Amino acid sequence: MARKPLVAGNWKMNFDHLEATYFVQKLAWMLRDAHFDYRKCEVALLPSFTSLRSVQVLVEADNLHLKYGAQAVSVTSQGAFTGDVSADMIAHLGCSYVIVGHSERRKYHPKDDANIVDQVRAVLAAGMQPILCVGESFEERRQGIELEFAVGQVHDVTRDLSEDETKQLIIGYEPVWAIGSGMVATPESAQDAARAIRDHIRLTFDTHVAQSVRIIYGGSVTSKNAAQLLSEPDVDGFLVGGASLDVNEFTNIARIAE
Ligand code: G3P
Repeated sequence: MARKPLVAGNWKMNFDHLEATYFVQKLAWMLRDAHFDYRKCEVALLPSFTSLRSVQVLVEADNLHLKYGAQAVSVTSQGAFTGDVSADMIAHLGCSYVIVGHSERRKYHPKDDANIVDQVRAVLAAGMQPILCVGESFEERRQGIELEFAVGQVHDVTRDLSEDETKQLIIGYEPVWAIGSGMVATPESAQDAARAIRDHIRLTFDTHVAQSVRIIYGGSVTSKNAAQLLSEPDVDGFLVGGASLDVNEFTNIARIAE
């Protein structure tokens, strides 16, 4: 089954809404200029909450084919939770995706670690797709348990999901040591992890579910390493951090995945 590649830019805590607006206009213009075929590759941006409405207005007004989403979500739907943002609020802004379990959230907001399944469920119930991030630290890699670790993180979520829910997942394999370090995983090791995750889903559910789930790689992706990573059969695209802040570089990565 052919899976459509996804190139998603995780802007993290960068860009205010004016910078976001400028970036989206420029990206759309550059992709249009390159006759980018969105049927072959999805391109998504994951801005801060404060930019989502601006991105929505632009995408709708100019009928852009870009998708967008949020970087975090609350597990509760409404109420006295100061500072939290619900899945419905995000969905009502036209978002397609929400990142769940990014290693930076797991590190700086450790309480979130306990309710990753609930976050996934909240995103799904609101009609969006969770981008579930998993990946080992340097220490787990040193011990040679990186595959077990990443698969274990996937298992912790999928064991509580139905087949239909699992099919909607996008899994971001992001080895923590590769994030923002300039040390990208080799194509072989990205493939080994993606294959191990897909095999696990196949064993838990079936081949159809395993073949439906997109597994994207994140960690120091640039236009220099993207083509090789994407040539691996189980790598279905990228979650791009630093390189997604440069519109030329992000455009080049999207064009490689097209
Ligand atoms: O979610 C993307 C990510 O954590 C990778 O960041 O800067 O290594 O591309 P970066």
